[in-house]
Amino acid sequence: MASQTPATRRAPDRSAALAQYRRRAATYDRELAIFEPIRTEAIASLQLQRGDTVLDVGCGTGLSFEQLHDRIGKGGHVVGIEQCPEMLAKARERVEQNRWRNVDLVCAPAAAAVIEKQADAALFHFTHDILREDAAIANVLSHLKPGARVVATGLQWASPWAWPTNGFVMLAAMYSVTSFEGLGLPWNKLAQRLREVDVEHALMGGIYIASGRYVPDSH
Ligand SMILES: C[S@@+](CC[C@H](N)C(=O)[O-])C[C@H]1O[C@@H](n2cnc3c(N)ncnc32)[C@H](O)[C@@H]1O
Repeated sequence: MASQTPATRRAPDRSAALAQYRRRAATYDRELAIFEPIRTEAIASLQLQRGDTVLDVGCGTGLSFEQLHDRIGKGGHVVGIEQCPEMLAKARERVEQNRWRNVDLVCAPAAAAVIEKQADAALFHFTHDILREDAAIANVLSHLKPGARVVATGLQWASPWAWPTNGFVMLAAMYSVTSFEGLGLPWNKLAQRLREVDVEHALMGGIYIASGRYVPDSH
């Protein structure tokens, strides 16, 4: 059987994602540099307060930690969840270099991660595979306090007329996700579980920032 590609796979594939990020760990931070303004906007949208606990889902090498830490202060907590040991090793180096004592790292797929805190906010920054997995969304949301802010960002197909943007989205997605499934509306599974959902776009519609509030059904 011919091997699958992100374009032909119908759902995310965790082992393919693991292999993809094992290869990228050494160069990842440089590759992400052009998207840093989106990170800043996403983290601002979390509306964090001093003392908050925030989940950084698919935290990679921990590029969001500094901005998260600045906003929550020493009394808050960051929980970084990441399945790729090579990416998480970089995150751990960052935590040690900065002597952050309030950043916990969990090496596990988002669907199975044991999260020991109830959080005030969750960030899914460029984590398409995770956002297309119902069990991952369910596990993360079950560790949020009622009213918690949730922000997701990433690549998205732009309008068909924006074909240069879609060329960029396709190349970037081939390299960074394991399935194109849901690239039209990447946040829609998450949004079903949120209230006050707002979606903004950048890069001619090729990047989204979706935010909302988690309110469990019983509230
Ligand atoms: C594009 S990177 C984003 C990293 C980070 N959020 C950032 O802002 O730079 C996607 C990350 O999600 C991780 N990932 C993919 N699928 C995952 C899963 N099912 N559970 C946990 N992490 C996953 C990858 O290993 C990778 O580190």
